[in-house]
Amino acid sequence: MTTPAIEFKEVTKVYRRRLAGQEVPALTHVSFEVGAGEVCAFLGPNGAGKTTSINILMGFLYADYGKISVLGYEPGDVRAKQKTGFVPENFAFYKHLNAEKLLRFHLALAGGDMTKSIGLIRDLLFKVQLQGYEKLKIGKYSRGMVQRLGIAQALLSDPQLLLLDEPTSGLDPAGRKEVKELIHTMKGEGKTIFLSSHILSEVEQICDRAIIIDKGRLVRMGSLNELLGTGDHVEILANGLSPEVEAALVEWGATIERGPNSVRITVPVTRKRELVEKLWASGFDLLSMNPVRSSLEELYLKLIGTGVPV
Ligand SMILES: Nc1ncnc2c1ncn2[C@@H]1O[C@H](COP(=O)(O)OP(=O)(O)O)[C@@H](O)[C@H]1O
Ligand SMILES: [Mg+2]
Repeated sequence: MTTPAIEFKEVTKVYRRRLAGQEVPALTHVSFEVGAGEVCAFLGPNGAGKTTSINILMGFLYADYGKISVLGYEPGDVRAKQKTGFVPENFAFYKHLNAEKLLRFHLALAGGDMTKSIGLIRDLLFKVQLQGYEKLKIGKYSRGMVQRLGIAQALLSDPQLLLLDEPTSGLDPAGRKEVKELIHTMKGEGKTIFLSSHILSEVEQICDRAIIIDKGRLVRMGSLNELLGTGDHVEILANGLSPEVEAALVEWGATIERGPNSVRITVPVTRKRELVEKLWASGFDLLSMNPVRSSLEELYLKLIGTGVPV
C-alpha cells in the first residue's frame, strides 16, 4: 500500500491564552487521510480549525495529541518540507521587489540551484500567467496576481504536495477562475493538493474528495460521489404535459413537479430510455436531461447549518 500524502490521526489541539487563562479547543480528535495524487478540499466555516491543521502539517504548530505524517515523515521533517509547497492564508511579499527578484530570493533561501534560476523562474511565471509582469513591483499587483505569485513560490522546489490555505479567498471571479485552472494543471502533473476553502461551489469543480470540519471536529468526508450521490436518478424537463400523460407517468413510477413553464420528471437512471420514448411517442418536447446530484453547497449547509455532526 502506498503511503498516504497526509495522515491525521486523532489530532487534538488546544490554544492556551496565558494572560486570559483561557483554553480554546481548535481541533478535537480529528482523523483523516489524503492519498497521493488526490485533490482534497478541506472545508469548514471560519474558525473551524483549517489553518490550525495546515500549520500543524507544516510543523509550525504542535498538536497536543495525535499522530500526524506528511509524505511519510513527521511534520517539520526537512525531507517532508523539501517536497511540500505551501501558500499561507495571509501572506505579504516585499512590495518593492518584482516577481523575478522575489522568486530568486526564495529559491536561494530554499538552497535551490541558482545556476538554473533564470529558466526555472521564467517557466514558473509563465505557468502562473505572470509573464510580462516580472519587472513590475509586487506592490502594484492585483490580489489575484499576488496569489498566483504565491503559488509560483510554492512550486519553486517542484513539490509533490501542495498545501493551499484559502487560495481563492478575496479574489474576484476572474482571479478565482485563474487559480482554479492552475490547480487543475497541477493536478494533471500528479501533485497532491490539499486546499482549504469556505467557497464550496468552486471547490466542487476541482476536488476529488472533501473533508468537512466545524468547530474543530470532523463532520463528514468522502469522495464527491460518496458525498453528493452518484447520480442514480435523472431529471428531465419537458414542456407542459397533458394531465393524462402526467397521471400515466406517475402511475408508472415517475416523480413529477410542475413549474411555471415546464414539468420536471425524475426517474431512476435505469428507466431513462423508457421515459424518453414514452414522452416522444406522446409528442412532447424534452428541454433537458441531467443526473440528479445535490451540490456540495447544499450538503455543507445541511451539515454546518445545524451544527450537528451527521
Ligand atoms: N493563535 C491563536 N490563539 C488562540 N486561539 C486561536 C489562535 N489561532 C486560532 N485560534 C482559534 O482556533 C480556532 C480555529 O481557528 P483556525 O484554525 O484559524 O480556523 P479556520 O482556519 O478554519 O478559520 C478558532 O476558534 C480560533 O479563534
Ligand atoms: Mg483559516
